[in-house]
Parts: sequence; structure tokens; C-alpha cells
Amino acid sequence: MPEKKKILIIGVNGFIGSYLTEKLLSFNEYEIYGLDRDSYRIAHLTDDSNFIFLQDDIIRSWDWIENKIKKCDIIIPLAAIAMPKYYIENPIKVFEIDFEYNLEIIKMVVKYGKYLIFPSTSEVYGKSNTDYFHEDTTDFVVGPIINTRWIYSTIKQLLDRVIYSYSLHGGLKFCCFRPFNWIGPKLDSIEYAKTGCSRVTNSFLMNLLLKKPIKIVGDGRQGRCFTDIKDGVDCLIQIIMNTEMCNQQFFNIGNPDNYLTVYELAIKCIELFKKHPEIPKDLKQAAKFEFVSSDEYYGKGYEDIFYRKPSIDKVKAILMWSPVIGIDKSLNNSIDYLFSEWNKMNDQKI
Ligand code: UGA
Repeated sequence: MPEKKKILIIGVNGFIGSYLTEKLLSFNEYEIYGLDRDSYRIAHLTDDSNFIFLQDDIIRSWDWIENKIKKCDIIIPLAAIAMPKYYIENPIKVFEIDFEYNLEIIKMVVKYGKYLIFPSTSEVYGKSNTDYFHEDTTDFVVGPIINTRWIYSTIKQLLDRVIYSYSLHGGLKFCCFRPFNWIGPKLDSIEYAKTGCSRVTNSFLMNLLLKKPIKIVGDGRQGRCFTDIKDGVDCLIQIIMNTEMCNQQFFNIGNPDNYLTVYELAIKCIELFKKHPEIPKDLKQAAKFEFVSSDEYYGKGYEDIFYRKPSIDKVKAILMWSPVIGIDKSLNNSIDYLFSEWNKMNDQKI
């Protein structure tokens, strides 16, 4: 039996980390070392003998991290705050976790000569106004400092630049991927969604379950390409299986066919919610939307991104990957999941 490839995933309980770990374990060809302070998304995986999990904060785990970087072949640091509400409410925390912690990890990967797979973001393109965003030619356009929304975009941009420079001058081998609005069950925990901090699909669907109107920020004409988490993770698996081919590449991982404005998304969520066979009638009758200003929803310091569409030509050419899951399917999966969580929540109250 060939030796199993060893992969370290930091932030293994996150949305991407949990799906990726589950998929990797299903091959029985990888040994996964995972770190996270929470375990609610991966609790069902912890009995797998190929999964070695430490539940703790990064700040208390530097020795463990260094030790595992030495041991593993591929390092995937996924721990980050990626919710726009926090870019406004606590930009320093975003800086500490997303930038400082990750820079430390990247330096260790360079030191021990390991392969880095790093999450960049669709947000690096900012307000760029080309029809499709291309990894190697599109300019990054961001707003003024007083709009702290841009802290996340610029942190990720600088890390992309640092990683690339280490590959040129420090021998680092890497692949950076840019998720474009990956969605699906377990995106943000139900508690986040209840407090209004969640990303848009969860926020809309959770409001419908709580009999609150969907809140459309601004005029709703801003658009996103929504990508099913399973499509995204399939692409990550291709990267893991083809690290040499992906070396020094930045890849957009998104679904340009799933472009919707936020207004269209609200209408679609209501439509699918009303069609769902199990949702109670009174919730269906209450389903509606309203418009709110960004100041009201996020607070001062927010600025929206009006248009975002990836070119996926590069990832198609190198990895032969294309997304296959349509938006209705992704949203229906999310409705099923949130509805079952909502039922559990109500059962506990009784
Ligand atoms: C996201 C986050 O920054 C990251 O999760 C990520 O790196 C990246 O973009 C991505 O997933 O590609 P954004 O696309 O603005 O940013 O994420 P959402 O919070 O889901 O917002 C999407 C749009 O919906 C925004 O225009 C926002 O104003 C709007 N929105 C959000 C509403 O109209 N109502 C809501 O309740 C929530």
C-alpha cells in the first residue's frame, strides 16, 4: 500500500474545511490533520482513523501547527473571518486572524518547504468593472480607507502578493483559489443567521423561517455568481490531486451561469420556499421582502460590490473542471438543511 498523503487543514470545522475533509476522507488515501476551535460541522468525522483532530484556538496551538507542518505534504490554512458584517464591526480582529495568523503559517510552510493551498477571495477584484474577472489580468479596485469593508479584500490581496513573492524568491510551491460566493447547507451557523451576520443566502432563508421580511440591502441590483459548495470542493480535490500542474496558479472557482442580482435572489428564495412541501403554510404566507440602506444593515464603513463574475477559463483548461450545480438545487439544499435545524431548535424549546 502506498503511503497516504498527509494534509493539514487549519480551520477544519469551517464551511469549506468541513466539506473538504469529508470528501478527502471518503477516498481513504489521505491522512488529515485538522485544527479548529469548534467541531459542530465535523463531529461526525472524528471517529475516522485517518482524521487527527485538535480542538483549540490557533493562538494556543503554534507548536502543534509547526509540528504538523513539518509532518504534512500539503498545508491548507482556511481559518479566517469572511463575513462582511465583521469587516465593519471589528476590522482589527479580521486583520489579526486573516492576516497575522495566516502570515505566520505561510512563513512556516516556506521554512519547511511544503505545498501551500491558500484561500484568496473573489473580493480581491473589488469594484473592478470588467464583464469577467481574470486571475492574471484584471485590476483590483477598492474604495477609501474609511470604508473598512475593504480590509478583507486588501488583506487577501497582500497575502496573495506575499505568497507569489515567496514562490519567486523563497522556493514556495503554492496554489491560491478564489471562491466566488460558495453556498450550501451549513454555510453560516443558524446562530449567525439569527443575528443578521450571515452571508446573503442564509440570511434570506433564515429570515423566511423566522417570519421576518428578507432585507435587501440598497436597491438589490448588485449581483453575485453563486457556487455550490460541492462544485467548489470538487475543484479543490482536483488541485490536491494535481499540485505540480497547479503550482504558482491563482484560480477563480465560481459559477458564472449562476449570476443573480440580490433582488432576483430574494424573489427566488421566496418562490422556492413557497414551493417546499414541508414548510408550514403560515410561514409561506408571511414570506416577503423589504429594502434597507447599507448604513442601517451594516453600519457606516460599508460599500457594496455591484457586479462580480469570474472567468473560469484557466481552471477549465488546466484542471478540466466546470461547475455543474444550478442555483435552484443549491438553494433547495440550503432550505432543507435550515428547515431541519429550525425544527431541532423548536423541539428544544418545547
Ligand atoms: C463575500 C464575503 O466577503 C466573503 O464570504 C467571500 O470571500 C466573498 O464575498 C465570496 O463569497 O465570494 P459578499 O459577496 O458581499 O461578500 O457576501 P454577502 O454577505 O453574501 O452579500 C452579498 C450581497 O447581498 C451584498 O450585496 C449584500 O449587501 C447583500 N445582502 C446581504 C442583502 O441584501 N441582504 C442580506 O441580508 C445580506
